[in-house]
Amino acid sequence: MPSISTKGANMPESPIRKLVSFAEKAYKANKKVYHLNIGQPDIKSPQIAMDAVASHHLEILAYTRSEGSEPYREKIAAYYQRNNIMVNADELIVTTGGSEALLFAMGSIADVGDEIIIPEPFYANYNGFATASGVTIVPVISKIEDNFALPPISEFEKLITPRTKAILICNPGNPTGYLYSQEEIETLAKIVKKHDLFLVADEVYREFAYDNLKHFSILEAKGIDENAIIIDSVSKRYSMCGARIGCLVSKNKEVMKTALKFAQARLSPPTFAQIASEAALETPQSYFDDVITEYKGRRDILIEKLEEIPGVQVGHPKGAFYCIAQLPIKNSDAFAQWLLEEFDLDGETIMVAPAAGFYSSPGVGLNQIRIAYVLNKESLIRSVEILKAALKEYKD
Ligand SMILES: Cc1ncc(COP(=O)(O)O)c(C=O)c1O
Repeated sequence: MPSISTKGANMPESPIRKLVSFAEKAYKANKKVYHLNIGQPDIKSPQIAMDAVASHHLEILAYTRSEGSEPYREKIAAYYQRNNIMVNADELIVTTGGSEALLFAMGSIADVGDEIIIPEPFYANYNGFATASGVTIVPVISKIEDNFALPPISEFEKLITPRTKAILICNPGNPTGYLYSQEEIETLAKIVKKHDLFLVADEVYREFAYDNLKHFSILEAKGIDENAIIIDSVSKRYSMCGARIGCLVSKNKEVMKTALKFAQARLSPPTFAQIASEAALETPQSYFDDVITEYKGRRDILIEKLEEIPGVQVGHPKGAFYCIAQLPIKNSDAFAQWLLEEFDLDGETIMVAPAAGFYSSPGVGLNQIRIAYVLNKESLIRSVEILKAALKEYKD
């Protein structure tokens, strides 16, 4: 049999999706499964976006420009300017989700064997994108005990080698919910300036900041126009994960020229989804106000209930809609599978994402899970009841 590539063999499974077959078995056994594993919000997409697609009569569903349709890019630039991120339409490329923007960014700035420093735990698919790009992730550890705050500069500087090309952050963070302060972003800006590195910020959760805290973008920091690359997406902002639309933003012309070649190779981002995403930019602020209030309420009840379980430690998210919970168990992979295969509380169980896949350091996060609070409050309360009962029964 012809053999597959080493790179393919090394591609990690997504911890968010790898237990799907066990969830399917649970459905077949008539169990109700609460999905805490995946960041698929239950929030309705803005009606204005759905209407735009329904009322748009195209005779040919054609390609658009590789960098995305012109009117859409103009409107995205206006959106950034409203958010104090001073870019124009030439400084962004529309991509097939934030996922493709991450791939284009890695492809544009790093060669095989180059290193990118990422505070861990981090969005699990960074492991996959790095493997696909031949890039080595060098983790800098942020700890649940410190609520995942940015480690001191000295920790970053210790890790910089001649092969380091970038620091990648996720702000607000998936899976930690950590929101970097302006001061922390300015600290990172100083490091990348000093060592001539790129600073890549995945800002797909920009709007999701709680407790009256304000997101501070890397493109608001002074003096790093040549270093900064933003990864963005409509998936979470407008609860439009299925649109598969994101973008890559940079004021660095060489980065944009290079990323455009990757974009040309895949021809164009999806046309109908750009129509929906362009319309979504007209979403009124009241939509976000409601959504943020809803997520904040969910976060508060989830954290409160989780902390009532003996032996459970939880990071306190300030943004996005995830948290990491440390459980009194040894191996959350086995626990998550057991929850689906063997456990139920009156016919109901939960699906969680084992957190080890959100780290690149071997053996770290084994007793942690990631919870996405994308379900309504009643479902979250019930899910925590199920978790509590499961922890009482589980032996590892
Ligand atoms: C931090 C982060 N970045 C990027 C993505 C990719 O999103 P998409 O490709 O749907 O835009 C996700 C999805 O969950 C995410 O959580």
